[in-house]
Amino acid sequence: MNIKEFFLVNNLTKNTHFLLQKTFIFTFLFINPKNMNILIIGAGNMGTTYAKSLLSSHFTTKEKMTLLIRSQASRQRLAEIADENVFSTPNDFVKSADIVIISVKPQDYNILAENLKPFLHPEQIVISIMAGVSLDTLYNTLQIPKIVRAMPNLPSQIGMGMTVFSCSAGLDRKELFIIQNLLNTTGKSMYVEDENLINSATAISGSGPAYVYYFMDSMIKAGEKLGFSKSQAEMLVQQTFLGSIHLENQHTLSCEELIKKVASKGGTTEAAFRIFEEKNLSQDIQEGAFNAYKRALELGK
Ligand SMILES: NC(=O)c1ccc[n+]([C@@H]2O[C@H](COP(=O)([O-])OP(=O)(O)OC[C@H]3O[C@@H](n4cnc5c(N)ncnc54)[C@H](OP(=O)(O)O)[C@@H]3O)[C@@H](O)[C@H]2O)c1
Repeated sequence: MNIKEFFLVNNLTKNTHFLLQKTFIFTFLFINPKNMNILIIGAGNMGTTYAKSLLSSHFTTKEKMTLLIRSQASRQRLAEIADENVFSTPNDFVKSADIVIISVKPQDYNILAENLKPFLHPEQIVISIMAGVSLDTLYNTLQIPKIVRAMPNLPSQIGMGMTVFSCSAGLDRKELFIIQNLLNTTGKSMYVEDENLINSATAISGSGPAYVYYFMDSMIKAGEKLGFSKSQAEMLVQQTFLGSIHLENQHTLSCEELIKKVASKGGTTEAAFRIFEEKNLSQDIQEGAFNAYKRALELGK
């Protein structure tokens, strides 16, 4: 079984946890990520999220973390990193990084890649979290064999993120486990062999938090129209989402089955659903997600 098949099986079988645990122990016996130097490029929302998650989870230490930043404004976000570990242009310090995380906007990538490439070497692993930048583009611009493309989402900021990732053929099993452990410091992660599924993930888990907030916002507005103050409506909606997600997590029932548990025949929920179905709400949400997927493809060209 090659590495990619191994990961596919891991994603799909009930033995996932057991296998992950075994390989996790195996990995830690041979490679301790704490000994790895991590370079984070771009200390915006996501770069800062990764830096803080890697430190708070003890994946690495602040002495082993290096930052490449563009402006002083972002420097303040990671004041815990000593000045000698913070740089503003790529240089020899890049060579000592074992893992390089690129978290700049896609439009800033080309200039960065040009300046970064002379200091990279084939043993390093580069993780890109840039939306729409393919493994091929990363390989063509950086010319190193070990590349990971990951798509996190906003809740990564609080360790509740969902990251979907794929990689080039240059990474071995141990390295991929280290990468999965690194990504898991921000929540959960899923390996996909087919890189195109990262565009699909962009449309579901990447943009998904905004869909959820849109639904919440609509319910808050309805709550206000039904007589609650804004803060009362927010409380009703927040707790309803929180409770519903936790319940769904604890049940083996599907969403459709859970809907049936709330919606009794001739009742109030059924009255709401009559309107949702008349207006084709489910179809509209699916079409919205497909449109996000199409946009992810366009951005990747
Ligand atoms: N935000 C999300 O929810 C999310 C989710 C999934 C993926 N992503 C991806 O994550 C990446 C970062 O997103 P973000 O929201 O963190 O953006 P952001 O807050 O704008 O951060 C980008 C950072 O990169 C810095 N930068 C740009 N060029 C640089 C260079 N050459 N050297 C060093 N630093 C440089 C910028 O510096 P300045 O301070 O000087 O502008 C900025 O601080 C994007 O590619 C995005 O597609 C984001």
